Amino acid sequence: MALLATGPVAAEPPSALRQQQLLRMVRQDCGACHGMQLTGGLGPAITPPVLAERGGVALVYATIWYGRAGTPMPPWRGLLTEAEVRWMSQRLVEGLPPEGQP
Ligand code: HEC
Repeated sequence: MALLATGPVAAEPPSALRQQQLLRMVRQDCGACHGMQLTGGLGPAITPPVLAERGGVALVYATIWYGRAGTPMPPWRGLLTEAEVRWMSQRLVEGLPPEGQP
C-alpha cells in the first residue's frame, strides 16, 4: 500500500526550554562577535533596525544557516535545526525579549 506524500510537515517551533537555550546562545555565542548588546564588535550590529534594512528574517536566516564564507561568521547548520534558526531569526528581527523573561 502506498501512502502519498503530502508535502513537508510544518516544523514545530522550539519548546519553551529550547527557546531559553537559544536566547542564551544568541546573547553569549553571537554576542561574543556581535557585541553583548548585538550593537557590533568583530561582526556588525545585528539590532532590529539594522536587520530590517538589511533584508529582515530571510537575510538573517540565510546568514545564520550558511554563515558567510570567507568571513569569521560561522555556519550553524548541523548545530541548530531549521526551525531553531527560523525562530532565532524572528526573535533577532523583532528584538529579543528582556533578559530573564520568556
Ligand atoms: C566568530 C565570530 C562570529 C560569530 C560567533 C557570529 N557571527 Fe555573525 N557575523 C560575523 C561577521 C564577521 C559578520 C560579517 C560577515 C560579512 O562581512 O559579510 C557576521 C554577519 C552576521 C549577520 C549579517 C549582518 C549583515 O548586516 O549582513 C547576521 C544576521 C549574523 N552575523 C548573525 C549572527 C548570529 C545570530 C550569530 C549566533 C548564532 C552569529 N552571527 C555569530 C561574525 C560572527
